[in-house]
Amino acid sequence: MFRVMPIVGVRPQFIKAAPLLRLLDEDDEVELQLVHSGQHYDYEMSKLFFKELGLPDPVENLGVGSGSHAEQTAHILLRVEKVIEKYKPDVVVVFGDANTTLAGALAAVKLHTPVAHVEAGLRSWDMKMPEEVNRVLTDHCSQVLYAPTETAVRNLRREGIPDSKISLSGDTMYDLLLKHMTDIEKSDILKRLSLDGEDYVLMTVHRAENVDVPERLSNIISAVLKLDRLKLVFPIHPRTKNRLKEYKLMKKIKEAKHIIPTDPLGYFDVLKLIKHAKTILTDSGGMQKEALILKTPCITMRDRTEWIETVTLGGNFLVDADEKRILHAAQRVIENPEIKDRLKATPNPYGDGRASEKIIKDLKSRWCSGILDGSTNKF
Ligand code: UD1
Repeated sequence: MFRVMPIVGVRPQFIKAAPLLRLLDEDDEVELQLVHSGQHYDYEMSKLFFKELGLPDPVENLGVGSGSHAEQTAHILLRVEKVIEKYKPDVVVVFGDANTTLAGALAAVKLHTPVAHVEAGLRSWDMKMPEEVNRVLTDHCSQVLYAPTETAVRNLRREGIPDSKISLSGDTMYDLLLKHMTDIEKSDILKRLSLDGEDYVLMTVHRAENVDVPERLSNIISAVLKLDRLKLVFPIHPRTKNRLKEYKLMKKIKEAKHIIPTDPLGYFDVLKLIKHAKTILTDSGGMQKEALILKTPCITMRDRTEWIETVTLGGNFLVDADEKRILHAAQRVIENPEIKDRLKATPNPYGDGRASEKIIKDLKSRWCSGILDGSTNKF
């Protein structure tokens, strides 16, 4: 049996891992040893996704919860080490760029257990972002790197990672979206929010660089308070909720008639909202891609993006946390429906919807041919 230990812990990882987990779970040659770090623990941030996406139960939940970066990373490291020693996986699979990703990879590599990184090679070239630190370090201690795009492959080569370790897989988030198109359409979220037939904007914000800096979060909120020609749906991430209360901005949001604040929503609901929105305002990485795939213009409240294809293909506008630029971009997109029409003709840079199958096939063939061997230290 091929023992595979995927490690997940935050909301976007449940989504990135979902199609892979399902295939691994059904595979008779695989012993699936799913581990949940517990970095995200609220029902709406974790359990909801396991339920909605039909994910298998983890063999262990490490219950690390919240904390500073050092605390969170260290707690995951300590606990993952014990779990790897107990289950002795042939490979540990980590996803994306969260603290769970880095800690899982570090614990494994130090025990000479091979690490596969799904969504490798993404770069924002900004080491102030905790996610960038996690990505770079994880890529450099992984034995197999599954890059979602050509750009990601180029980034890895630029950093001297040998071709033998890199595999262009496509993006597992695209696999998931394709599989669930019908479920997404079936979501009744528009009705639940009384938005049927109405034009609206969808907004999310959660990155530390935006929500932990009072001035930046105030600029963003100031902009959306002025964007009152359309309804604005705002599912609020727990980190953001804490900061909005701390900076005394929550009251303004609740008082604004055009803003619909909600708890974090499930996958089908959010995707339905993205699909039918005039535009989305976000700092999420995943939503930039999902908007491009669903042909909805995206306005990203960051000064750069690691998902560069979304910009070069004309679907994403970078405006930073700058009130004037947010307002200007939103008005331009809302008043120019041809932007949305133009997006209908853009190619999809995220593969053919079979990234998860390719990853499993590649992992198995490396394992069978003995290349996946941490003890040889050929990292
Ligand atoms: C993490 C990831 C980020 C990813 C994001 C998706 C890191 C460094 N960041 O950021 O890459 O895009 O997840 O959501 O790993 N909280 C709750 N309930 C929860 C989860 C969090 O209340 O279920 C609160 C806690 O107060 C916590 C704060 O949110 O301190 C931040 O959570 P944390 O896991 O540190 O990072 P995210 O901001 O979610």
